[in-house]
Amino acid sequence: MEPHLDALAEGPILGLPARYYRAPEVFERAKARLFRRAWLFACHASRLQQPGDYFAFSILDQDLFVIRGRDGALRCFFNVCRHRGHALVEGSGRARVLVCPYHAWSYDLQGRLRGAPGTRGLPGFDTGGICLTEVRLEVFCGFVFVNLDPEARPMAEVFPGVEAAVRALCPDIDDRVFAQEYDALEACNWMVAVENYNECYHCKVVHKTFASGVIDPQSYNVRGFGATRCLHHTAKAQAGAAAWYDTSGSDYGSFFLWPGFSLQVYPSGLVNTYHWQPLSPEATRVFRGWYSRDGRVDEGLRKVIDLDRDTTFAEDLALVKSVQRGLGSLGYRPGPLVVNPDEGIDSEHSIAKLHQWLREAIDD
Ligand code: FES
Ligand SMILES: [Fe+2]
Repeated sequence: MEPHLDALAEGPILGLPARYYRAPEVFERAKARLFRRAWLFACHASRLQQPGDYFAFSILDQDLFVIRGRDGALRCFFNVCRHRGHALVEGSGRARVLVCPYHAWSYDLQGRLRGAPGTRGLPGFDTGGICLTEVRLEVFCGFVFVNLDPEARPMAEVFPGVEAAVRALCPDIDDRVFAQEYDALEACNWMVAVENYNECYHCKVVHKTFASGVIDPQSYNVRGFGATRCLHHTAKAQAGAAAWYDTSGSDYGSFFLWPGFSLQVYPSGLVNTYHWQPLSPEATRVFRGWYSRDGRVDEGLRKVIDLDRDTTFAEDLALVKSVQRGLGSLGYRPGPLVVNPDEGIDSEHSIAKLHQWLREAIDD
């Protein structure tokens, strides 16, 4: 039996001590032992349609970019020149070759050095075999993930069965096209944000629009997906006049992939994502992505995106900021989690799981 569930018989499970959310050494451990070994979301494959399309991003202090080669394959490289370390690309765009802005060394789309000005015939200078440092990359239902650990197990082994479950809920998920993304700075540790996402105990209290317009709160549940580090959220669609849009056709489902990505399939097949990028012990950047069948944001989708941003998204920003401040209070004591053996919306068994996963990753 899992240790935290075992403890249930002896009394309530307590939350984590505040240092897990505040201490620089805990953050450094999470960086080294978790974020440098985990599958993390980079961008959607539809943002890189043509050879030479690239997208730069960061994982903590590591700058990377994904690029589509002439062979059609997506690759990820550290965004660092093999000469003296300047960054190669910024943002996103399309390139025929990658030319370093510092001394103009040039690389092909597979990361191989093709030219270094002034070096031809230079005695003892061999540019052959120099290549950008590549990073593991996989495409999961159209979403590009990378892993800084060359020994990492494939995503299908880390999250067995999850891709099939996503496709069962959204059969055309692989054909979705990136439509829009926005981001915001969250004044909290990444775990505060991820915990907040993974329980809906607060939905009825805070997210009145979501709980009346998208899901039926009474039906909401979060379960571990088998033995994987995935949390599967399920709910019936909200019906009737309160619904934001056409909610017929399917239920709500979401898949949170530890440690920093979630994919939501809304009733009627609308797809959106969150991903969380830790910046420092008490700051996190959250990204909200939206996907449509043709990459367009039509009037209906615009309405949903704006409403979500003004309600659920904004409401969560305020919650996590207050919690982070509370964790720094001299009066803070880890409180009992509400763990209901029958699960359901008024239960935080998912939080206990997240705490367990964090401790397994970073404790000695
Ligand atoms: S650092 Fe890139 S060419 Fe010199
Ligand atoms: Fe929330």
